[in-house]
Amino acid sequence: KHYAVAVIAGDGIGPEVMEEGLALLQAAAEIHGGLAFETSTFPWNCRYYQEHGRMMPEDGLTTLRQFDVILLGAIGDPSVPDHISVWELILPIRRAFQQYVNLRPIKLLRGLESPLRCKGHADLDFVVVRENTEGEYSNMGGRLHEGTPYELAVQNNVFTRYGVERIVRYAYRLAKETGKRRLTAATKSNGINHSMPFWDEIVKEVSLEYPEIETRLTHIDALSAYFVSCPETFDVVVASNLFGDILTDLGAALVGGLGLAPSGNINPEKNYPSMFEPIHGSAPDIAGTGTANPIATIWSVSMMLDHLGERELGRLVLDSIEDVLAERRVRTPDLGGTATTREMGQAIREQLYRR
Ligand code: NAI
Ligand code: MG
Repeated sequence: KHYAVAVIAGDGIGPEVMEEGLALLQAAAEIHGGLAFETSTFPWNCRYYQEHGRMMPEDGLTTLRQFDVILLGAIGDPSVPDHISVWELILPIRRAFQQYVNLRPIKLLRGLESPLRCKGHADLDFVVVRENTEGEYSNMGGRLHEGTPYELAVQNNVFTRYGVERIVRYAYRLAKETGKRRLTAATKSNGINHSMPFWDEIVKEVSLEYPEIETRLTHIDALSAYFVSCPETFDVVVASNLFGDILTDLGAALVGGLGLAPSGNINPEKNYPSMFEPIHGSAPDIAGTGTANPIATIWSVSMMLDHLGERELGRLVLDSIEDVLAERRVRTPDLGGTATTREMGQAIREQLYRR
């Protein structure tokens, strides 16, 4: 089997961690035998912006459309405002390709300790399904009376039946396919009195099709507290765009930080390419030092393999990451060690060959 992979390494530590992600991908192809990944790298980053006045060429989306999948490192440089760099590259890709699921595993890997010291790794393993195209992050709204005492800003939330149903259905399907028992939907219908009751109604409707799965609607404020006090009680959490955004950063903090956290921007119908990326940014503070943790990117590659249907291989990659962490020999500075990005990547590749 042959897959075409578009690679946007980006800025700062993006290219550094991507190098390890791609080396691992080729190692995975090698041990599998019948697999080939043909990667094409696109230099769409902040330097490109400074030369061309845009983050990607006019036909950039048409180009990406032809690939099976996209791997992204990180975008962002102090020389270009974030609302240009992130919003003119990443958001257009997510929206054009209907990547309406933002999938973020919250899993404490073997060998790591959570800042919640009492919880073992066996307990901390769930997934957040964040809506990725509508909700609170709409463009609808505006500002009036600027410069007067009557100045105001309005930002509308947009929840469509189509949009809510498809993300909720995805979450239930995922729970069922992965043998999970519980689905928790984040809500705030006690305070947001139009969109959230609508969201709740749709969750309840879809839940009738999955009687074997226990459904809970939990208000976002309480849910945030439960993430910390009893994270072991979650299997699949489904949330709107804003709530999911906040919950997933909280979740990442529970399981070891940004250097580890992967994500998928998924088009479940597979009629467009999906995109996999570490959730961290370009980390200008450590860029160029060769000490960024490549695990978030390598785990994202593992999620990409799952998405392509190469689940056994995806599992093997994650197992190899866990083996290396459990061994405690090779660790980057964010995990308290002294290893470089390259040494960490290499240790995981070697473990993959060994397994
Ligand atoms: P950041 O994620 O780049 O860094 C936050 C902190 O985490 C820094 O101290 C950094 O050194 C550390 N860190 C991040 N990734 C790490 C890794 N792999 N290994 C070890 N330490 C790591 O977030 P920040 O500083 O808020 O943003 C920097 C730039 O990245 C900005 O331009 C921002 O807009 C952009 N950004 C891009 C994202 C993307 O490409 N999807 C996501 C988040 C931010
Ligand atoms: Mg990222």
